[in-house]
Amino acid sequence: MRCKVCRGHAVVDIRRHNAAFCPDHFVDHVTSQVAKALKEFKMATVEDRLLIAVSGGKDSLAVWDVLMNLGYDTTAFYLDLGIGGYSARSKEAAVAFAGSRGGKLITRSLREEHGFTVPELSTLTRRVPCSGCGLNKRYEFNRAALEEGFDVLVTGHNLDDEVATLFGNVLGWNTQMLGRQRPVLQERIVGAGDSRAFVKKIKPLVRIAERETAAYALIRGIDYIVEECPMVEGNTQHRYKEALTLLEEASPGTKHRMYFGFLKNASDRFAEDRGSAELIPCTDCGAPTVASGAHGVEKLMCSFCKTKALAHARRAERTNDSVHGAEQR
Ligand code: FES
Ligand code: ZN
Ligand code: ZN
Repeated sequence: MRCKVCRGHAVVDIRRHNAAFCPDHFVDHVTSQVAKALKEFKMATVEDRLLIAVSGGKDSLAVWDVLMNLGYDTTAFYLDLGIGGYSARSKEAAVAFAGSRGGKLITRSLREEHGFTVPELSTLTRRVPCSGCGLNKRYEFNRAALEEGFDVLVTGHNLDDEVATLFGNVLGWNTQMLGRQRPVLQERIVGAGDSRAFVKKIKPLVRIAERETAAYALIRGIDYIVEECPMVEGNTQHRYKEALTLLEEASPGTKHRMYFGFLKNASDRFAEDRGSAELIPCTDCGAPTVASGAHGVEKLMCSFCKTKALAHARRAERTNDSVHGAEQR
């Protein structure tokens, strides 16, 4: 296998591009694919302040690395979800990477900010861990970006992530999510004012497959956390990825065709379903929430605050029950 550029020994082959690369030219290839996505979808400029949501995994550290190398103004944000040793090790990876590259890193902990971890939230609300995990991340990433005055929030979603989400949205014909599934989500404003509700979000790795971010991290010496979240079991997105990988193996380019074909030919057909309801501040935390259909103060809370209130109420019930139990003994 020879490198497409220099004819030297190739270490990575990309069947959908019918090309193989030596380590240096593979790094160039990934960098140029990210630069292409940034330009094509008007993601960000070098004047923007970018906040990168990092998990300690290969994708988020790789996107941070590429953006630093491309000269963007980056700061990373790590949210400790409190998933035992897994969270401790993923935080270590993020901190070590920031240290090795001289990158700026903000860390926050869910327990310190809100009084619970993802596993505790799952038990208290009786919902699958990933649902609370996703809600917490969306809320905290946006909050951190707004509070710290960042222009753009960057996530490490790669081609495999996006095509699996698309596949799931098509299977369930979730037209609202299909309308919103873009590599860029523009910022949104609260009510008639000029304060930002949702910061602009971008996914610069949409042209890069998961195995390519792993290869990139390896070649660049990025020491990422390899283990998977222990709560991933039963995650439907995971099953879609496995199914799509089988199709990709049989017909290289399937994932790319499905995702980019959707953006080109179908995405705008769901534009009306995107949801443009007016946003108002949550009565509890001030974060944006949808105004339409709201009646009563309770309904004006954002979904994060509703979930948090439910978790704290259930915890109080449990504490009361155990106090009663102890008194009766
Ligand atoms: Fe869903 Fe970790 S909580 S994968
Ligand atoms: Zn080469
Ligand atoms: Zn709220």
